[in-house]
Amino acid sequence: MEIAKNSHELRQCLAGLSGDGTVAFVPTMGNLHEGHLSLVRRGFAMAKHVIVSIFVNPLQFSPTEDLDAYPRTLEQDLEQLAGEGVALVFTPSVEDLYPSGLQAHTKVTVPGLTDVLCGRQRAGHFDGVTTVVCKLLNLVSADIALFGEKDLQQLLVIRKMVADLGIPVQIEAVPTQRNANGLALSSRNGYLTPEALDLAPALYRNLMAVGDAVRDGARDYAGLCNAVTQRLNALGFVSEYCEARRCSDLLPALEDDTDIAIFCAASLEGTRLIDNIVIPHY
Ligand code: PAF
Repeated sequence: MEIAKNSHELRQCLAGLSGDGTVAFVPTMGNLHEGHLSLVRRGFAMAKHVIVSIFVNPLQFSPTEDLDAYPRTLEQDLEQLAGEGVALVFTPSVEDLYPSGLQAHTKVTVPGLTDVLCGRQRAGHFDGVTTVVCKLLNLVSADIALFGEKDLQQLLVIRKMVADLGIPVQIEAVPTQRNANGLALSSRNGYLTPEALDLAPALYRNLMAVGDAVRDGARDYAGLCNAVTQRLNALGFVSEYCEARRCSDLLPALEDDTDIAIFCAASLEGTRLIDNIVIPHY
């Protein structure tokens, strides 16, 4: 497995792969878990080579967020990726990706989809994500790039960016990986105490209950989502939002809409957890 520590080394490694079959790309911030590995495995099902980037992107963290505390486990990550047969890992520095500095660097903004849900609370977060993903997609030039459905809003924002800017890459969505108790895998789960880890699966259980209610004919999305918020708060979560929105444009779901998802964000012990369920067409 080759490791490219900057864009120059990446170009050299890519030249070695050039013309030798399709390439799938998995961008990550490291601290890899089964969720990331499922992206890698799906990449191998679709392409000959898989390239992974590991970069904790400062541009997508606000000053009050956990950039410094974000878990960095490079050696372990590299071991796992070598075990999966990954061809190349790109581990750039902040200076390499943002040579003009964070403030002066050109930004990529996707309007609309980024104003709601996580975008309302995390000012600038999605600009940070789209800026780094756009740059990584340009540098790696893969045929396919894979993203998890756990961050569904991020996935939809990236799909729009790729379509709007004509970036020649196929975006592949991979289902959320969960513990046996339903908790969505996330690097931030590592911040939770054992007590909070016991409580955390209630987030998904409540989303599933909304899914069941909709399957049984309920369409009062606001009422169903408010009930989730109240139940989570009663358990000790601090709810941020629980909303039913259309996947196509993230507008609030209407009764007749069929492409909807329930999005939820809530904190436990100060750790922000997000999850979602896509409601199948009825
Ligand atoms: O989902 C993530 O881990 C990050 O937002 C991404 C896509 C790697 C961009 O930094």
